[in-house]
Amino acid sequence: MEEELNTLRKRHLYREVKVIESPQSAHVRYRGRDMLMLASNSYLDLCNEERIKAYAARILAEYGTGSGGSRLTTGTTALHTQTEEALARFKGREAAVVFNTGFAANSGILPALCRAGDVIYSDELNHASIIDGCRQSRAETVVYRHNDMADLERKIKERPGRQGMIVSDGVFSMDGDIVDLPGLVELADAYGLLSMIDEAHATGVVGATGRGCEEHFHMEGRTDILMGTLSKAIGAEGGYVCGSRVLAEYLKNRARSYIFSTALPPVTMAAAKRALELIEEEPWRVGRLQENVRWFCGQLRERGIEAWSETAIIPIRIGAEEKAVEVSEMLMEQGFFLPAIRYPTVKKGEAMLRAALMATHTKEELRAAAAAIAAAIAWAGRE
Ligand SMILES: Cc1ncc(COP(=O)(O)O)c(C=O)c1O
Repeated sequence: MEEELNTLRKRHLYREVKVIESPQSAHVRYRGRDMLMLASNSYLDLCNEERIKAYAARILAEYGTGSGGSRLTTGTTALHTQTEEALARFKGREAAVVFNTGFAANSGILPALCRAGDVIYSDELNHASIIDGCRQSRAETVVYRHNDMADLERKIKERPGRQGMIVSDGVFSMDGDIVDLPGLVELADAYGLLSMIDEAHATGVVGATGRGCEEHFHMEGRTDILMGTLSKAIGAEGGYVCGSRVLAEYLKNRARSYIFSTALPPVTMAAAKRALELIEEEPWRVGRLQENVRWFCGQLRERGIEAWSETAIIPIRIGAEEKAVEVSEMLMEQGFFLPAIRYPTVKKGEAMLRAALMATHTKEELRAAAAAIAAAIAWAGRE
């Protein structure tokens, strides 16, 4: 283990935990200092929202700290089912099922729905939890080129008549681009395959009211399985799947990560439920997030940095791991929290800064961040 850790250090691939000393918000306390948070998945800044905290505190006082059992034994409370109903409504589906995390959802859904003899067509940039779910299913996993529908169709045609599923991130977690949903659904329909989209970084972010990829493409109701997480824009914890009533009942009976794990505490469900209500009550949050992204990308491009995104994730490509770490450290020193993303999260030699914005960042903060990023990249690139 030590040898391997030393090798990671030499290759600038060693990773360590960064301990935040405050709530997750646009500003955080880190190593005793105030930092502008530019990397969080709490896109709508709801982890520390007063009304959500007040409601969660009431539920905490009423229901206590733990759930005491798995969803099918003693762990399901009214808060769990209310949150599932709220999710199903928000996503325009008959039913929803909450899992403990997004990771648990993917690694439960895929083996429950696909088995040996089936085929899962999976985008090459899909999240690790989808990759693990594919492996656990024992279905044949066919990886197609990133968002390349021609490659996907070629691969489907090579396996005529096979039963299976196409699965893709809705918003890709590192590059921040959006799935070609019209292309994917057309192929799923044409070849009789199930379609599944992971909305982890899409919910609360894309679409006019933050309902995700289907809303973005005006394709409401067209995907068979909408998976997502409550841990990012929703500001709580937990994974979910939305779909037909039959799908929900089937997963409750077949998904091992749902069945064999203690349910989330009611207080977490309360936070997620209240956050969904707030997203609907206050549409300005989604609008301001989308506006912030446009503004920030413009600020970066004005300073010579290629930056485009329609989501909250803005990849800033650096390349060499060593340089990415140096840029990140310089930014950290100046009070900008923006860690380097390296292999194995991205390919070797394709290290980057993954900027992630919040609805509550101000234009002044984003202007200062863009200037600091451009200066750090120029400094690290000097001969
Ligand atoms: C695309 C995607 N799916 C699933 C997950 C897992 O969700 P969670 O963090 O709730 O386990 C993540 C993030 O970690 C993700 O980026």
